[in-house]
Amino acid sequence: MSFIDQIQSSFPVAQDSIPELDRFAAAVQQNEYLINGELRQWSGPFQEIVSPICVKGDSGYAPWIIGHAPAHNRDTALIALDAAVKAYNLGRGAWPVMSVAARIKHIEDFTVRMKAKRTDVVRFIMWEIAKNREDAEKEFDRTVDYIRDTLQALKELDRQSSRFLIEQGIIGQVRRAPLGVVLCMGPYNYPLNETFATLIPALVMGNTCVFKPPKLGILLYRPLLEAFRDSLPPGVINTVYGVGEEVIPPLMETGRIDVLAFIGSARVADSLKKAHPHPHKLRSVLGLGAKNPAIVLPDADIETTVSECVLGALSYNGQRCTALKIIFVHESIAADFIARMAARISVLKVGMPWDKDAKITPLPVKNKAEYLDGLVQDAITRGAKVVNPDGGTFFKTVFFPALLFPVTPDMRVYQEEQFGPVIPVVPYSNVETALEYVYNSHYGQQLSIFGKDPAIIAQLVDPLMNQVSRVNLNSQCQRGPDVFPFTGRKGSAEGTLSVTDALRAFSIRSLFAAKESELNKGIISDIAHDRTSNFISTDFIF
Ligand code: G3H
Repeated sequence: MSFIDQIQSSFPVAQDSIPELDRFAAAVQQNEYLINGELRQWSGPFQEIVSPICVKGDSGYAPWIIGHAPAHNRDTALIALDAAVKAYNLGRGAWPVMSVAARIKHIEDFTVRMKAKRTDVVRFIMWEIAKNREDAEKEFDRTVDYIRDTLQALKELDRQSSRFLIEQGIIGQVRRAPLGVVLCMGPYNYPLNETFATLIPALVMGNTCVFKPPKLGILLYRPLLEAFRDSLPPGVINTVYGVGEEVIPPLMETGRIDVLAFIGSARVADSLKKAHPHPHKLRSVLGLGAKNPAIVLPDADIETTVSECVLGALSYNGQRCTALKIIFVHESIAADFIARMAARISVLKVGMPWDKDAKITPLPVKNKAEYLDGLVQDAITRGAKVVNPDGGTFFKTVFFPALLFPVTPDMRVYQEEQFGPVIPVVPYSNVETALEYVYNSHYGQQLSIFGKDPAIIAQLVDPLMNQVSRVNLNSQCQRGPDVFPFTGRKGSAEGTLSVTDALRAFSIRSLFAAKESELNKGIISDIAHDRTSNFISTDFIF
């Protein structure tokens, strides 16, 4: 059987050839959307939700249509925004003035309801973006852990704020207060986790939100809508569906969005920021593009390097912002490195998300395989070769990884963020080649160094730390653990996300202050004693 036939045979021939628990025998019709605490029924146009998983039909293999979701228009988006603005009510709403302890209880309640929907959400992740089961489950569980850790971090933050300070005759109490209305949008590759990485901290800090699911990974939120409705006060979270270009700019143009939380392309982020009439009033928390390099030094431990590079470049088919997207390898070990990489790639199993051990799964972005093939063909015409067996072979939405060598600066893949299973390898004789790449890059998220000599590594780390926000040693690039800061320099990010940093990103330090007079001391004591304020308070959250 040819390799292309092998790829074809990994797609299901019919719905009933899919394990029963994993299939969508009938299309899912989502009419509901959440605004102001109500699940409303949409009667306008719908968007088709097309899975990258192809199923054999009369005219061959075609992407399976798993369902439909509302395609909102501008007016509906503005109704969602109105609800969020009303719930915030210039900071007077029940949610922004609620005690931290009470908000935490609401989010805990949401988490209990969310956990009950794990199977449904994981199935949607597998079908909408073809993430394999293991990674889809990991995404769900990591999100639950992230919420738990966020709440824990907020308790700790609140404990530190539960006291008065006296400085130069001024009594003060400092707390973090919400910013207003947050527009939250996550990316398709981590549609749940990265959306919640901003949505949950934004909510728990007392902001109200308009939330739009990613372009791909929409229906997976359907099982969570009731959980949102039942665990949060009306208007605290409101959903918008449809084509981003139609529904999002009108929200920005109102000037009523206080925080833009967006993980996606710089092009979209720039245009949304520009659409806001008062950019200085807008805070942005952005996760954007990256082209993280690996720098393999001549003394690198080759086995560790190869295994980290395969993981780093190909987990979830390379569709991670943190993926290793270009590898610089010293020419003295390039042949060995390439041979071992090729061997490791050749055993990666192609399959559907529910297939055991499937690592290479369909790509959800339309025409992505064709785009990647374009990168490969461009590199070939400029002198590179695909050096792994069957590399670059594709059928429909499945693209088998292509290891390209030797890659040179004139090739598109040297600069373009491929966000997919193409691995460009650049040989170098002087490490300056790799360093120049980092210095001249538009991106500045992370990089990985592979080597053994402490003196050389130390020399590289110091200046590189001023170019990227995380340098990894003998390890792939990655976002986690989520308690570590996740950010980027240059065009890769704005703001820092981590369990603790995200709480700061969605709030501002605010100070209650009073001269230390008898009158003021009396008033403050009474307020704290009678618990009439959630801000002026010494309550300790256990
Ligand atoms: O797409 C970017 C993600 O933040 C990457 O997260 O390194 O945990 O896969 P990860």
